[in-house]
Amino acid sequence: MFYIGIDLGTSAVKLLLMDSEGMVKNIVSREYSLYFPNPGWSEQKPEDWYINTIEGIKELLKDFDRSKVAGISFGGQMHGLVMLDEQDKVIRPAILWNDNRTVKENDYLNDTIGKEILSEYTANISFTGFTAPKLLWVAEHEPENFAKIRKIMLPKDYLVYKMTGIHATDVSDASGMLLLDVKNRCWSEKMCQICGISSDMLPKLYESYECVGELTAETADMLGVPKGVKVAAGAGDNAAAAVGVGAVEAGSCNISLGTSGTIFIPSDKFHVDKHNALHAFCDASGAYHLMGCMLSAASCNKWWMEDILGTREYSVEQEKIKNLGENHVYFLPYLMGERSPYNHPNARGTFIGMTLDTDRQDMTLAVLEGVAFALRDSLEVAKCLGIDIQRSKICGGGAKSSLWKRIIANVLNIQVDVPQTEEGPSMGAAMLAAVACGEFASVSQAAKKIVSIRDTVQPEKELAQKYEQRYQKFKNIYPACKELFDKIVE
Ligand code: XUL
Repeated sequence: MFYIGIDLGTSAVKLLLMDSEGMVKNIVSREYSLYFPNPGWSEQKPEDWYINTIEGIKELLKDFDRSKVAGISFGGQMHGLVMLDEQDKVIRPAILWNDNRTVKENDYLNDTIGKEILSEYTANISFTGFTAPKLLWVAEHEPENFAKIRKIMLPKDYLVYKMTGIHATDVSDASGMLLLDVKNRCWSEKMCQICGISSDMLPKLYESYECVGELTAETADMLGVPKGVKVAAGAGDNAAAAVGVGAVEAGSCNISLGTSGTIFIPSDKFHVDKHNALHAFCDASGAYHLMGCMLSAASCNKWWMEDILGTREYSVEQEKIKNLGENHVYFLPYLMGERSPYNHPNARGTFIGMTLDTDRQDMTLAVLEGVAFALRDSLEVAKCLGIDIQRSKICGGGAKSSLWKRIIANVLNIQVDVPQTEEGPSMGAAMLAAVACGEFASVSQAAKKIVSIRDTVQPEKELAQKYEQRYQKFKNIYPACKELFDKIVE
């Protein structure tokens, strides 16, 4: 049998075809536009997601026996607000996870409603990218759109809705809405009241590996697949990635170097960081996880390489870098503000420490190091909670760079395990579809059978020490710039 995993990312939709043994048969990717209508705003058109997903599936299956497709599932960029009216039309472009327009609404939730109350209702506090502050923003700034809302959904759930007609979501993705009672895996009526919506506007909740229904006959015909193809609820992209790289058991960890950068720590128990610097979310395997999320990770490198240096020759640039651990330049990677651990939408990207002998390679290296240092900031929060992380899986576009993996292993001073398949979320989504179709008894069983490690990057004693010293210096830069960021950002 074949299972299709779809990762609805921020830059592209990535589709993966997996067989019953967990072998990857084909991978396809289709890009779409990201819109920044105002500074700090970030939007996409759900219609673009849908069209590219349908075309992507056709391309994925072109040379394969379509009659063997048994299940489909999704991993998706989290927190995005998709709103449909009574005709099921998209009301306005989706407001994405890295959109920072909701500063006021975010402050209202955290300061007026109060972090303690939010944490009691949802296990989390508000961040500008979360869904609840976006609803408050639409109510305040676009009341005519707010009045039209009949259905609210997350990005991947729009695809599920279009392909099955079923309004469903999964608990891992729903955790990032600030509308879910994470501990009890159900909607929080109190949060719905705070946001001025009724809970029947929200999708029905499922576990990630549960089947929500089947493709509609129309979708099945359009794709040329059999009737009765099952659709599993899927997961937020980070929870899906954790499945795809086999980081599903307590004690494991996954680092994702995508547009965002995350450090994902599964746990068999419900656990809240008392400062809420890390997110406490439901997991795709039926348990929970803690997660630190930085808003710009591989996107910092893409910005630096493509927009500033004007090249796409990533490995050519990186091959010239020699002075690991000795760079005098530092980079704060806050190009879209920062979420974990600072929760500061006004934070900005910053280079500091240049001298007249600073060259292009120093700057390129500073970008890669800055992302690694910022991931270490979240790791430090986890350490303060008593969580001991000695090794981590890694995935995402940035994980293709050997240099970056080496920097991460040394800055975090942990062993980095590289899975055979680096396509974390799409692989995880295909595995969730296989579990929903009964191919595996559980998510952890699927992970044990399917995931293998291709390579391991060990921290090097001397280099890790040098990076320890540099991290101690890096730690001072954000606090020194914090107030300045608020002054320079209007
Ligand atoms: C996680 C988050 C990002 C997006 C990126 O909280 O906001 O990782 O899911 O796709």
